[in-house]
Amino acid sequence: MEVIIQPTPEEASRLAARLIAGIIGAKPDAVLGLATGRTPVMLYAELVRLHQREGLDFSRVTTFNLDEYVGLSPDHPASYHAFMHEHFFRHINIDPGRIHIPDGMASDIPSFCATYEEDIRAEGGIDVQILGIGTDGHVGFNEPSSSLASRTRIKTLTARTRSDNAPDFGGADKVPHHVITAGIGTIMDSRMCILLAFGENKADAINRSVEGPVTAMMPASVLQMHPVAKAFLDGTAASKLSRANYYKWVYDHKPEWQRF
Ligand code: F6R
Repeated sequence: MEVIIQPTPEEASRLAARLIAGIIGAKPDAVLGLATGRTPVMLYAELVRLHQREGLDFSRVTTFNLDEYVGLSPDHPASYHAFMHEHFFRHINIDPGRIHIPDGMASDIPSFCATYEEDIRAEGGIDVQILGIGTDGHVGFNEPSSSLASRTRIKTLTARTRSDNAPDFGGADKVPHHVITAGIGTIMDSRMCILLAFGENKADAINRSVEGPVTAMMPASVLQMHPVAKAFLDGTAASKLSRANYYKWVYDHKPEWQRF
């Protein structure tokens, strides 16, 4: 895994946005895998700025979101549909027909999930998957003990994740128990993974995911097995990494052709 440590979340987000803009520039019909939550808000703001100020074109881009709460309709303010429209889609020139977000209201969830996987395959797979990380190490909503080969399916949130996400719902007891999430196998099939993590509350999960053993008990650790995984961290999220100085040196001395 490539570990890129920046002084602030803003700088890390700007850098990740530049990498994604470069991918879209090289492949205008790129397929993006998208995450929600507090972490990628600045990344989306920067992509919006690149669209508005520098003409970054999303008209041929296709997107697949990682997850959605079961039982929330798209117009529920805490739904990930609402989040994506608020923070990203309504500000860019994406074709609404190319947006895919799991349907939390699906009446037949297994069949919906199978179709979601087929749709990703039909688009040629995900070029770049954006990820946040839970304080318990989840990616997507693949909680600890999720199969490392899992595909899109229903999952049950841990008490810790429901408590972490309580502010979006006005109390942990109001956070749904169930979600639809792309699986770890689904995520691992993408051609590049960009993991973002900011803040001290992510330092432990980052330490265990980057430098610990690969284990289903720390789902993000599976990214160690991904051929092109890049972790964009701020200083506090990186604060428990034993090799932080080495990662910084590597990034600062990248050959020119590897820079983005
Ligand atoms: C959301 C998602 C989750 C979040 C994670 C971190 O689509 O996939 O894995 O990335 O729960 O959430 P924040 O960024 O709110 O700390």
